[in-house]
Amino acid sequence: MTSSTAVIVLCTLISIFVSRVNALGGSATTVAISYGVNITICGIVAGQPSQRIQCWRNGQVFPVFYNISFESISGGRDVFCGVRSGGSTLVCWDTQLVPKRIYYNETLLLRHLSIGDRQICGITNATDPNVYCWRNGRLSGRREFGFRSVSSGLGFTCGVMFNDSVGCFGIDSVSARGVQEGFAGFGMLSIGVGGGHACGVNSTGFLICRGNNDYRQIDVPQHSAFEFHGLALGANHTCALRRRNNSVVCWGGSGGEVNDDIASVSFETIVAGLDFTCGLTTDNFSVVCWGVGWVRNDSNPLGFDQILPGPCVRSSCPCAIFPQSSSLCSGDGSICRPCDIAISAPPVPALGPPSPPRTSSEVNGGAPISLVDYAVPIIMAGELEKILDKRVGMPEVNEAEAVELMAYTALHCVNSEGMYRPTMTDIVANLERALGLCSGSHGSMSSSD
Ligand SMILES: *[C@@H]1O[C@H](CO)[C@@H](O)[C@H](O)[C@H]1NC(C)=O
Ligand SMILES: *[C@@H]1O[C@H](CO)[C@@H](O)[C@H](O)[C@H]1NC(C)=O
Ligand SMILES: *[C@@H]1O[C@H](CO)[C@@H](O)[C@H](O)[C@H]1NC(C)=O
Ligand SMILES: *[C@@H]1O[C@H](CO)[C@@H](O)[C@H](O)[C@H]1NC(C)=O
Ligand SMILES: *[C@@H]1O[C@H](CO)[C@@H](O)[C@H](O)[C@H]1NC(C)=O
Ligand SMILES: *[C@@H]1O[C@H](CO)[C@@H](O)[C@H](O)[C@H]1NC(C)=O
Ligand SMILES: *[C@@H]1O[C@H](CO)[C@@H](O)[C@H](O)[C@H]1NC(C)=O
Ligand SMILES: *[C@@H]1O[C@H](CO)[C@@H](O)[C@H](O)[C@H]1NC(C)=O
Ligand SMILES: *[C@@H]1O[C@H](CO)[C@@H](O)[C@H](O)[C@H]1NC(C)=O
Ligand SMILES: *[C@@H]1O[C@H](CO)[C@@H](O)[C@H](O)[C@H]1NC(C)=O
Repeated sequence: MTSSTAVIVLCTLISIFVSRVNALGGSATTVAISYGVNITICGIVAGQPSQRIQCWRNGQVFPVFYNISFESISGGRDVFCGVRSGGSTLVCWDTQLVPKRIYYNETLLLRHLSIGDRQICGITNATDPNVYCWRNGRLSGRREFGFRSVSSGLGFTCGVMFNDSVGCFGIDSVSARGVQEGFAGFGMLSIGVGGGHACGVNSTGFLICRGNNDYRQIDVPQHSAFEFHGLALGANHTCALRRRNNSVVCWGGSGGEVNDDIASVSFETIVAGLDFTCGLTTDNFSVVCWGVGWVRNDSNPLGFDQILPGPCVRSSCPCAIFPQSSSLCSGDGSICRPCDIAISAPPVPALGPPSPPRTSSEVNGGAPISLVDYAVPIIMAGELEKILDKRVGMPEVNEAEAVELMAYTALHCVNSEGMYRPTMTDIVANLERALGLCSGSHGSMSSSD
């Protein structure tokens, strides 16, 4: 199929793109870093009857609460916190690992947690307003607007509001205002905050960073739409995962200095301390760390049991479920695949099925299935080659990137929210980029046009 038909054909459904973002200390995930007096790295253990927490400090691994299940954890300066499974309770530990319950409500459940420095912010399952922040174990503020996600850094917190605008607040009001203004006019899918900077993916899939640039931490490397996901922002550095192979790319200060060993590893999720970064490996769910501030390179991997690649949740997943989800969660909940490109499918405006790929009968027992229903999950699973027309032949290396670019562009075209579909200008730019990638090769793509 030609690139333009690919766009038109797939421009029938699909939607939102929400990246898993771990800002300083992390946000709502299963690996957390606490810094300050001592570095403590914690994870939620997989495949156990209770989703318990294990921590690393000074080369030692130890459990925190043997028998209590946690959904997500996050860390900041001399503090780390966990949301108990179900979301009713937020517990925080100080450097002596003394726990303190700072939130409890059986009906107003916590859905999201982020810690930066000493500021702890959570999002409840209310609609508007829904952000609460705590400091030193006490409620320090409630925002007046509803947020879809928040991320706390050093001195300020930013979040994506329900209208996709970025709002920032915090003690460092100058940085907060500066960064918020920097994102004005962008519809954002995600946001992560580091030291004095913040980065997020905009609605057309580009990673945008704003704020302090002393270390070139906001100079995002050249990339194509939806190339990056899984951000981790440290005090002066930024890291992201490449969607294609989950390898890590870092820029800015030396807290993200990636050596050859780390460059060859695939990660499920990454999380940043002030001047180092850690990742959960795809291969065996172990945690490894790197960067100038990581002084214990003899400790890699940290010696945890297998860590969960994402929170075990009892509600249904907006996108796909992680493979082996039920054994990782011991039957108690499932792990949602990061909503790379989530399907929040409006009914398919039947586009007179444009000769669906012949293999479609294999996936649906012969029953008719729309091309979009068929293709989208496959593209999302990164198995694009499965839906390419075999008669054309497999794309060459540079063509593969072009095909991928078109696939993601197409996915985005079918966003249920009209305002977040790419404009014709965006599409033309992506088509031109794809064409540029192909030129110089004996294009099997261009030959069919
Ligand atoms: C921090 O680590 C040092 C060195 O291992 C240790 O002596 C000290 O007790 C730790 N501090 C806390 C608060 O745990
Ligand atoms: C949970 O473990 C703690 C010790 O870590 C123990 O005191 C407590 O009795 C246990 N509770 C249950 C319900 O097993
Ligand atoms: C829990 O939240 C609900 C809804 O905001 C509120 O009405 C209720 O008082 C809260 N319960 C407690 C124990 O704070
Ligand atoms: C939040 O979750 C609780 C428990 O599932 C539920 O009773 C409540 O209605 C939810 N609130 C909102 C606003 O969705
Ligand atoms: C989004 O909502 C916030 C809070 O209601 C408002 O201040 C902001 O102007 C809105 N942004 C857009 C682009 O409408
Ligand atoms: C997203 O960011 C890219 C790169 O800065 C820009 O070209 C594009 O217009 C932005 N998209 C939206 C919808 O703001
Ligand atoms: C991942 O892809 C990038 C560019 O596409 C490449 O430079 C890198 O070597 C790959 N890494 C792995 C581990 O395959
Ligand atoms: C980050 O950069 C600032 C200067 O911009 C410096 O004061 C600070 O020490 C750096 N932090 C880390 C952890 O490298
Ligand atoms: C897990 O993978 C890492 C790197 O991918 C490797 O260094 C480590 O030895 C592996 N650990 C186990 C227990 O296999
Ligand atoms: C740890 O880092 C030091 C200095 O960068 C290096 O000499 C040493 O070989 C590293 N050790 C391991 C186990 O990688």
